[in-house]
Amino acid sequence: MAGSDRASYAIGFADLEQEVVVDRLPIQGEMPAWLSGALLRTGPAKYDLGGQTVNHWFDGLAMLHRFGFADGNVSYRNRFLQSDSYREATAKGALARGEFATDPCRTLFQRVAAVFEPMLLTDNCNVNVNPLGGAAVAFTETTLPVRFDAETLATLGDYGYGPAIGGSVSIAHPHHDARRKCQFSYVVEFGMKSRYRLFSIDDDGGAECVVAEMPVDRPAYMHSFAMTEQYLVLVEFPLVVDPLRLKLQLAPFIRNYRWRPEQGLRIHVFDKDGGGLVKSVETDPIFAFHHVNAFEDVGNIVVDLIAYRDAGIIDQLYLERLRASDPIDATGRLTRYVVPLSRPGDAFAIEVAEAMIELPRIDYELCAGRPYQHVWGVGRRDPKDFLDSIIKIDTETGETQSWWREHCYPGEPVFVGLPGRAREGEGVLLSVVLDAQRAQSFLLVLDAMSLAEIAKAECPHHIPFGFHGNYFPA
Ligand SMILES: [Fe+2]
Repeated sequence: MAGSDRASYAIGFADLEQEVVVDRLPIQGEMPAWLSGALLRTGPAKYDLGGQTVNHWFDGLAMLHRFGFADGNVSYRNRFLQSDSYREATAKGALARGEFATDPCRTLFQRVAAVFEPMLLTDNCNVNVNPLGGAAVAFTETTLPVRFDAETLATLGDYGYGPAIGGSVSIAHPHHDARRKCQFSYVVEFGMKSRYRLFSIDDDGGAECVVAEMPVDRPAYMHSFAMTEQYLVLVEFPLVVDPLRLKLQLAPFIRNYRWRPEQGLRIHVFDKDGGGLVKSVETDPIFAFHHVNAFEDVGNIVVDLIAYRDAGIIDQLYLERLRASDPIDATGRLTRYVVPLSRPGDAFAIEVAEAMIELPRIDYELCAGRPYQHVWGVGRRDPKDFLDSIIKIDTETGETQSWWREHCYPGEPVFVGLPGRAREGEGVLLSVVLDAQRAQSFLLVLDAMSLAEIAKAECPHHIPFGFHGNYFPA
């Protein structure tokens, strides 16, 4: 029920200092006995550094969370990622490296000096957790992912891409190709001649290989990309940067980007094998953080993403607004782009469902890069509220279902498939939900098809709103 008596979601943006190890969380309902593994997540948990409060949701210092599942029990532990950025910031009481929308505090002299120094990349990996080259790895949007111990959450050190990959800015949403046994991702290299560089990393041994390169004058801010069975798809939103502005370090990273709708939306399709640019098309401008899935369909490529009218959503996620519980009215909708591959013609877009959705997940194991039916994400029932529900969208019919509870704010619903399942979507969703009234979080387990509640595990504290994570089978 929407209403002004709802407990404020602002507690989801309060710092969490406490690091705990709990062998058994109190459980309501019955945890599926087949769940055997761990949900590993990352997210910002420290915004107030002593001498400085960061500006944006995306800037908080990363904390890792682990929910372990065995024999119907759930264990929990959380630990700050001991990245170089974390150690420097906690020692100094302020950022030492630039984050997404916050720069280090610098004197005028330091500002001038910084112009002549290479940009110090952040390794504050608060965006996503993925297996990479045989290790558990936390990611942010630079070329410095960080390895950690999947059991203890102890930080093991920067992953560090090799010199062939280069670049500085990257993404936290690599794609896994089960058939080729590798991950695909990309970096942006800024310079006199900037370029996007798509690359792969082998599952076994971590060998790195450059797949394709594309020169670009003004690189776009892209938070993710799309993959079909045969192609990699870069969708260039018209939020672009003059590389010189980044080099001069005059403003925090994202404040250097400009919205240029006249440039349109550019979709580039690359062959995974050989790296050739197969197609480039242009269509009406939109902005997105997240691609959902993509697939090949009789001479076309279909790309599904969560589209916003423009990049205003970034401004709505500044910390001061969120801590004041200001409404967020930018709306992301599941939108399908059809790109003709083997014939001339323009791309066109279809809105799959009207409902707001973000942090989308699919049955990745069965459906990544292939035709699919179900998308899960977080939704917003009350247009004046934060993300207040879990939503499921049927991509074939546009039908939606949702789960919600008063005062509850769910995080990304991670799909975990029933082992050996025959049908897409057989399994559960795992979501960390903040109960704002009790200022405490719980792990929610839903049946992925019906969104019926199966079980809840109570956490010992509130968990600040995070972004992404993944389930690592035992
Ligand atoms: Fe993301």
